[in-house]
Amino acid sequence: MDEPAVVRIFDTTLRDGEQSPGATLNIDEKLDIARNLAKLGVDVIEAGFPIASPGDFEAVRRIAVEVGQGEDAPIIAGLARANKADIDRAWDAVRPAQRPRIHTFLATSDIHLQYKLKISREECLARVGEMVAYARSLCPDIEFSPEDGGRSDPEFLYQVLEVAIKAGATTLNIPDTVGYTTPGEFGGLIAGILKHVPGAAGVIISAHCHDDLGLATANTLAAIQAGARQVEVTVNGIGERAGNTSLEEIVMTLHTRPTVYGLRTRVDTTQIARISRLVSAYTGIPVQPNKAIVGANAVAHEAGIHQDGVLKNPLTYEIMRPETIGLADNRLVLGKHSGRHAFQQKLVALGYDLAGPDLNRVFERFKDLCDKKKIVADPDIEAIVSDEIYQPVEWWRLLHVQVSNGTGMRPTAAVSLRGPDGVMRMDAAIGTGPVDAIYKAINRIVQAPNVLTEFSIKAVTEGIDAVGEVTIRVEPSDDEYPNSNGFAALNPQTEVHLRRRTYSGHGADTDIIVAAAKAYMSALNKMLSAKKEGANGSHPS
Ligand code: KIV
Ligand code: ZN
Repeated sequence: MDEPAVVRIFDTTLRDGEQSPGATLNIDEKLDIARNLAKLGVDVIEAGFPIASPGDFEAVRRIAVEVGQGEDAPIIAGLARANKADIDRAWDAVRPAQRPRIHTFLATSDIHLQYKLKISREECLARVGEMVAYARSLCPDIEFSPEDGGRSDPEFLYQVLEVAIKAGATTLNIPDTVGYTTPGEFGGLIAGILKHVPGAAGVIISAHCHDDLGLATANTLAAIQAGARQVEVTVNGIGERAGNTSLEEIVMTLHTRPTVYGLRTRVDTTQIARISRLVSAYTGIPVQPNKAIVGANAVAHEAGIHQDGVLKNPLTYEIMRPETIGLADNRLVLGKHSGRHAFQQKLVALGYDLAGPDLNRVFERFKDLCDKKKIVADPDIEAIVSDEIYQPVEWWRLLHVQVSNGTGMRPTAAVSLRGPDGVMRMDAAIGTGPVDAIYKAINRIVQAPNVLTEFSIKAVTEGIDAVGEVTIRVEPSDDEYPNSNGFAALNPQTEVHLRRRTYSGHGADTDIIVAAAKAYMSALNKMLSAKKEGANGSHPS
């Protein structure tokens, strides 16, 4: 029997995904995610929007240099609006990759042409022809996207796409930018393109859906059934507003229902759970418990009747085996007497490949935890790994924190930190509560003005000795781009709308006050790294 045809996975976690509010990633985090996307087996990594800021450019370039090499390396794409400055910048960033791609876009819906771009349909057609040809003169692999394609007049869209093909586009990506279409409509649009656009059969048709109506996965699957052979997705479905189509939902649908689709991806499904946790830890965006495929409850069976059935035969209630997405076998329970070898085996089963100093640090934390907790469960280990490994560069390091509070007392905190110059500094402050007191004391030392916009705390396992995980977000209050209503001023040089960034931080500890202090340090370090890298939040349109 013939191998099923391939649907290419174009991952845009680092570009559209990073546009999620608060998902700011620094260069090292982007590189780590890109390396793991390559390991997952995606075909294309959209590494960023190079013109947006020097930090965005550098991240794309380093991904091209460090992840885009070798026969099996993924294609590295950079986004560009349909103008020469953007295209040049994207090309400079992706060109070191073995297989670079420029992804250029221009809106085609009347509403965008009239109100946003203020150009006629004729001008749009001319610009697409000129800019796709220009991009093609630089790079052999060109993707063109008609932004807001889902709300564009299909007849005009066909004309635009024909121009793009003639100018040299090799992939045509159809975005449902505002998540407005339904599966019937979106599948119909893709079928219409394949039928009516001359040359469409000779290029790859791609689908890019947003989840505003909760239809992104359904629309993408409809596009696949209509002939799309590339899909644009993000890990955990993160992205602008309600997010993008989630990678894991598409991959696992094609994997689980071969008789319906008869298509495959090149993704190694056993990497899915791990990359989901990695992206969640770095972006500070938690995965909702009931999220399909990767939510904590997705493979849990609470109801007695279900548990009974699953014990008799997993097929009664499970359509996917947890191991297929890389969820570890929970039978290996660790505790006080577990040695380094058993611990390392557990890490491998959880999908972590740690060695050297990273492994030593995590093992030390595990041993510490064993003194406080009888049984160390998988979520405890994941929390330790997140806390030790998925952290930004430590400009400032928390050395000690001490709090006194209680009834009739004013909460007071003393902290000591080591600064970027290696010098230890101490300070103390009084607050409205213990966490407020700690944060005020830290602020007195670090002097990085910010506003705390979110604070959440959760126990990673049950019981009084559970590890507490704190996730927070801070917003710099001395931002050069001052509006705080989501979008900020237009950068006059690049004409990119900048967005005020928020920075997430996470910390884990059996003492929740210490976890809160660690989370704050992690967010501040991230904010300081971003300032150093010159990254500004950006929105490409
Ligand atoms: O949603 C969208 O239209 C996009 C394009 C830039 C492809 O993200
Ligand atoms: Zn998008």
